[in-house]
Amino acid sequence: MDYLDFFDLKEDPFRLTPDPYYFYPSESHNEALSSFNYIVEQKEGFFMCVGDPGTGKTTLLNTFLNTEKWKDRAGIALVLTPRLSPEEFLLTVLEDLNVKVKNTNKNEIIKAFRDFLIENSMIGRRVIIIVDEAQNLPDETLEELRLLSNLETEKEKLLQIVLIGQPELRGRLLSDSFKQLNQRITVRATLRPLTMNETSDYINYRLVKAGKGTVIFEEKTKKLIHKLSKGIPRLINLVSSRAMMAAYLDMSRYVRKRHVMYAVKHVSDSFIKTTRRIVTFPRIIVYSLMVCLIVAALIVMNRVKEQDQRGQSLSEKGTVPLIASESAAPFIEHKKLPKTAVVAVDAANVRAKPSLDSERIKSVSKETALEIIDEFTETTGMKWYKVKMHDGKEGWIADKTVRIVNE
Ligand SMILES: Nc1ncnc2c1ncn2[C@@H]1O[C@H](COP(=O)(O)OP(=O)(O)OP(=O)(O)O)[C@@H](O)[C@H]1O
Ligand SMILES: [Mg+2]
Repeated sequence: MDYLDFFDLKEDPFRLTPDPYYFYPSESHNEALSSFNYIVEQKEGFFMCVGDPGTGKTTLLNTFLNTEKWKDRAGIALVLTPRLSPEEFLLTVLEDLNVKVKNTNKNEIIKAFRDFLIENSMIGRRVIIIVDEAQNLPDETLEELRLLSNLETEKEKLLQIVLIGQPELRGRLLSDSFKQLNQRITVRATLRPLTMNETSDYINYRLVKAGKGTVIFEEKTKKLIHKLSKGIPRLINLVSSRAMMAAYLDMSRYVRKRHVMYAVKHVSDSFIKTTRRIVTFPRIIVYSLMVCLIVAALIVMNRVKEQDQRGQSLSEKGTVPLIASESAAPFIEHKKLPKTAVVAVDAANVRAKPSLDSERIKSVSKETALEIIDEFTETTGMKWYKVKMHDGKEGWIADKTVRIVNE
């Protein structure tokens, strides 16, 4: 009997695919979906939706695409790999919309596109360009999108543009060079991680969708999953799926906290890093350690005082350095950092702080080698390296954009 039979489920409820069948309308997902439909309905120009990795951007997009209402009433160009030059981008869009162009002269392309938009507008059909992972659009292609958004009649916009991406997209559009584009974005949405109640509902919702079955996630188990995943759906799926597997191995229909603990030890590195602090250092241990440190410090101070009173020179006896080095040593963590990060994508951003929202200091091109001087992992599991550039400037680069070379 496999584990789906054991729990009497039709399929794995926590698969990591952006399947609209499983779309759970949390408050922020619901708002974003309504905004998405609104801009198409109202023929607003530009919509931008951002969210951290794993918060459900692609799932939201697929849910929109699955909406019966728009299936026959809209022509949709979907760009999923946006690292395209303006020309490549335009041709991809035209191909998706089935617009024939006689030659690839830019003016000809734009003219053919405008004619196509007007024809569609006359029959009340919407035309939408949707870009997922839009944070990866090159600057010139973003500018091209702005120019496309100018295609309008006196009465209405001929084209709706939807940009979906990670929060760094919002940061990029705040820069001076994208002021005009930023002003054109009329509707915005942000996908937030799920709250505790939403996480609990989300788990139940996915179980019901997968056939309900006999599996039971206890309330305290769901609380722990929420705490460890920080409410990020992808991480909730990851740990819930493994925890169910652990319960199955235990022949238990109840998924308990110990199954979750077992699961986090067996899921991907990024999840373990996100959760390690919580898993290995529960609050009680941290507090106990703090109390021990304070007691130790008091004892040391007391001894120093006693010795002082006896008129002995501490420095002669070496007591101070000994206390400073030996007693502190176990609490200092000497991290061994990797040495060099080599840029593995066409262009990677170096930022002032380890966050996608942080200001971009520089864009570095593929194969640039950067010295690593520090590292940091966000609660979402996203890892960053602090690097020194050739001009001596320092900044943070996302680990997914580099490969590590250790000589
Ligand atoms: N609202 C939701 N309802 C149901 N499942 C969701 C929801 N949001 C996210 N998920 C699940 O979480 C996982 C990650 O979702 P998705 O791929 O859409 O995230 P993303 O924001 O596009 O991530 P990335 O930034 O890495 O592209 C998928 O398994 C998806 O099914
Ligand atoms: Mg996605």
